[in-house]
Amino acid sequence: MSTTEEIKSKIDIVDLVSEAGVKLRHAGRNYTGFCPFHDNKHTPAFVVWPETGTWRCFGQCNEGGDIFKFVMKREGVDFKEALQKLALRAGVELKEYQREKPETREAYDHLRKLLEDAIIFYRSHLFNNKDILAYLREKRGLTDATIETFGLGYAPNGWDNALKHFTQRGYSEQDLIDAGLLTVREEDATRIYDKFRHRIMIPIRDEQGRMSGFGARIVDPNDIPKFLNSPETPIFSKGRLLYGLDRARKPIRAADQAVIVEGYLDVIALHQAGYENVVSPMGTALTEDQLRLLKKFTRRIVLALDPDTAGQKAVLRGLDAARAAMDREGEFNFDARGLLRNEARLQADLRVASMPDDLDPDEIVARDKSEWKRLIENAKPVVTHVMDTLAAGQNLNDPKVKNQIASQVVPLIEDLPNALERDTYRQQLARMLRVDERALIGTQVQGPRVRRAGPRTTGKGRDGASPVVAVVSPTLKVEAYCLGILYRSPELLYRLDRKLQEFGLNALAIDDFEYTDHQLLFRTIRSSVEQDEKDHHHYVAAHLPESLEGLSKELLDQTEKLDPLDERLLEELLARFIDLRRVVAQANVGQLRFLQEEEQQQGGVNLKQYQEQAVQFTRLLQSLDQAKRKLSLKRQV
Ligand code: CTP
Ligand code: MN
Repeated sequence: MSTTEEIKSKIDIVDLVSEAGVKLRHAGRNYTGFCPFHDNKHTPAFVVWPETGTWRCFGQCNEGGDIFKFVMKREGVDFKEALQKLALRAGVELKEYQREKPETREAYDHLRKLLEDAIIFYRSHLFNNKDILAYLREKRGLTDATIETFGLGYAPNGWDNALKHFTQRGYSEQDLIDAGLLTVREEDATRIYDKFRHRIMIPIRDEQGRMSGFGARIVDPNDIPKFLNSPETPIFSKGRLLYGLDRARKPIRAADQAVIVEGYLDVIALHQAGYENVVSPMGTALTEDQLRLLKKFTRRIVLALDPDTAGQKAVLRGLDAARAAMDREGEFNFDARGLLRNEARLQADLRVASMPDDLDPDEIVARDKSEWKRLIENAKPVVTHVMDTLAAGQNLNDPKVKNQIASQVVPLIEDLPNALERDTYRQQLARMLRVDERALIGTQVQGPRVRRAGPRTTGKGRDGASPVVAVVSPTLKVEAYCLGILYRSPELLYRLDRKLQEFGLNALAIDDFEYTDHQLLFRTIRSSVEQDEKDHHHYVAAHLPESLEGLSKELLDQTEKLDPLDERLLEELLARFIDLRRVVAQANVGQLRFLQEEEQQQGGVNLKQYQEQAVQFTRLLQSLDQAKRKLSLKRQV
């Protein structure tokens, strides 16, 4: 989900418009009121569609848009300012998508080159050290091919092996510090030494395969910490990387499923066993950024947790304790509430698989390859996992036990944004505890409540927690998809326009997009094809408002695997745009019918205006339907 989408999903447009002083009244699925942008106080021609998060004035303005457009118009600000205001309101942090300056990019490339050289350095030390090689081959069961593929190495014991090696090769000490290979002693800055000593080195790449840093595991069991990672640098940010994603992204897409394990060595062992859709975080709790990153490749995500993480201990430690311990280094932590919120927010499908017999995933596949497959297939939804874990080994006839379990699970259930899911889990819990479902509703709910999607809640009523609206309008998705394709290959716009013309329809225009950020991006794409100084895509990249860089990056990622030269893609685009126009036209016709009825009862001053608009939209609908029919005929031949 892009930042703008996230903001839209968290702000109720009905609240927003009401707070701006517009009195809204329920009218079917929509709300109507007097337009705040023009004077007519005769009929309420201003309509709000909560489901799509959009508004429209059917009166004098004859204009509409989303929440951003509303704030832009209402407060006379530009998109960027509206974005900032609404982000603040939604409690969404705006990442500054600073364009990478050429000199910074060069500096980063230089560091990455150094890290690539470091892989070679550590590898040569590995293949010179029989003991370490034996450990990897025999104790960990890794083949030489796997060691090679994952670029494993060994950092020799001693304080200055890397320091000497790389300074002799022309790298400066500063380069080595910046890349995280050297440590500067805090009390005495003249003391500089190798950060990684006597450790197995595991290169970490970003999802594009660019070298980012290292994870380093002890060889001597007495050393601490067990794992040492590169320090946070501009190119290594633990919370934003997932280990193995460069190799796993394709398999994840192919399987339409990603599996998250806890450790580096688990990732490596599973890939070796042929399970390549596996990644891991790096000793920190799973972040929303990481889930978001995965979501680009699939929405189906399984957490395969080590026994001690998934087990009794962790769950019983209490859901809030899990939060408090979140940032502790080297702890994965099972934070059910956080996971559920992210699941809803990202519209993902999160499940949990726990490992039996006190074995880590790498030990499972070593024991029996096919067992892994079964475990993953049997992964359970987060709530079910919590229920089952809490219940394991307990006497469920004991009312105290029932109460203890219910008081932990009910808050999780009540927090879910989806009513159907809430009902399902309540039933499941009631059945498990053998209590009446109604008894559960009364169970003390602890912790912050989250406001749910659906009909508007009255007044402000915000209770600290940010609302999670699970419904993201389908229009939004389709627009984003089409736009992503055009962004990737602006040339398609010509061909699209020509096709639209053949069907007697208007060329693609800004108002084909309902969302302001999409309109802005489309405008840039349109001007890119109307100039011929620069390559189209470069033009768009150079002229894009800074506030849209996040969105555009995301769109690019989503459309990565599509082939712009494919004729079917063009036809699909065409069909989708026609659908979008139909949805809007239909909604408008329906709304106008409603407005006309109201107007008739009130004397009918604006009746003619509404009728004319209705005729226009109906005609448009007819030609769209016709185009749709021709298109599907064409597809059949
Ligand atoms: N981790 C870390 N820092 C630590 C401990 C753990 O970053 N001090 C991270 C590492 O990414 C590690 C993962 O947490 O891979 C899991 O840790 P653990 O279960 O202790 O290690 P294993 O992966 O099981 O390592 P091994 O099998 O080699 O013992
Ligand atoms: Mn392990």
